[in-house]
Amino acid sequence: MKHSFYSLMTAMALLAMSPSSSMAQGLKDIYKDYFLIGVAVNQRNVSNAEQAALVKQEFNSITCENDMKPEPTEPQEGKFNWEAADRIANFCRTNGIKLRGHCLMWHSQIGRWMYSDNPTKEVFFQRMKNHIQAVVSRYKDVVYAWDVVNEAMTDDPKAEDPFRQSPLYKIAGDEFIAKAFQYAREADPNALLFYNDYNECDPVKSQRIYEMVKRMKENGVPIDGIGMQGHYNIYGPTEAEIDAAITKYKSIVKHIHVTELDIRVNAEMGGQLQFSREGVAVSDSVKQHLADQYARVFNVLRKHRDVIDCVTFWNLSDRDSWLGQNNYPLPFDANYKPKMAYDYIKQMKAAAWPIPEKPKPNPNQQRQRRRGGFGGPQRPPFNPALAFAEQPGVKEDFVPSELNQPG
Ligand code: GLA
Repeated sequence: MKHSFYSLMTAMALLAMSPSSSMAQGLKDIYKDYFLIGVAVNQRNVSNAEQAALVKQEFNSITCENDMKPEPTEPQEGKFNWEAADRIANFCRTNGIKLRGHCLMWHSQIGRWMYSDNPTKEVFFQRMKNHIQAVVSRYKDVVYAWDVVNEAMTDDPKAEDPFRQSPLYKIAGDEFIAKAFQYAREADPNALLFYNDYNECDPVKSQRIYEMVKRMKENGVPIDGIGMQGHYNIYGPTEAEIDAAITKYKSIVKHIHVTELDIRVNAEMGGQLQFSREGVAVSDSVKQHLADQYARVFNVLRKHRDVIDCVTFWNLSDRDSWLGQNNYPLPFDANYKPKMAYDYIKQMKAAAWPIPEKPKPNPNQQRQRRRGGFGGPQRPPFNPALAFAEQPGVKEDFVPSELNQPG
């Protein structure tokens, strides 16, 4: 009796000393029966030993935040720059982590050469084809899925034309989408090919995405999946809105990836440059709202694990986020420490509080935006030569000013 009491005590003491199995497990392990857990990385994340260790501990899918985009890989026609993308691809190869390719055709972060000099459709398609073939072939061994076309639909709910009026669309109409998928499939018949967009839970935009993908697929365009970027905030979307979007998309595709998940604590949402960097004091209640919104999002995603294969956070920590650390958007804070939100995701907790009421828009901010375009002051261009350094104010994309306007 005494003997077994002491054995029990010893076993308990040993358990307390060794890292408990759930402590040692990362999000990827906890979610192994649901979907891959991914992260968008920059050069520093895979080079700094502590950050690289965190990536390996928590994630089993990687996306290059910027380094595989059209302009960084082919800044001038036929002149490729593989250094940064190779470094991340090699990190994935060495550590056996899957790589999501992002992205082949996008109106932003694309060399102007792709659409300048009024090319005929044929010339433009040839440029696209050369680019897509070169990038896809190079990373064929390690990339399992590509965002082939990014953000081709408009955000304007009143627009008659559902497509974004980008230079790519102006040259070739929606044929550029079909061709991009065709070239990607030719270059790698095994990779899953995605259409990727933001505001993807908005009822009007999601319908447009749905109709476009459905029509393309009916016409034989090889689209395997829909990427839901997942740039959300603590006020929305609701579980019902996310559920409705996924339900709609899964009626036409077999694969859905959440490709760029982050949750802002300010009231803005969506893609390009429509966010504020103004300081927000992160109160305990805001921290709770963030954890709760992550809890709601993951609750819906787990429900749809039959179609969702990967959920990727857009950046490793608040320090890396394109939204700035004041937005407090990720499960890891600016010191790479897990937040309450991380625990809620990991422990699959339910939200504690209801979704907060959205604050009224600040009229001063609105006026400023109308005058100065989106997102306040113009940021300097992204400089790939400084990829290892902090680039103050350019963690997000640089978008040439005439392309800044959504839709
Ligand atoms: C879009 C793009 C991403 C990234 C984010 C902002 O969502 O798809 O590649 O540039 O904007 O960082």
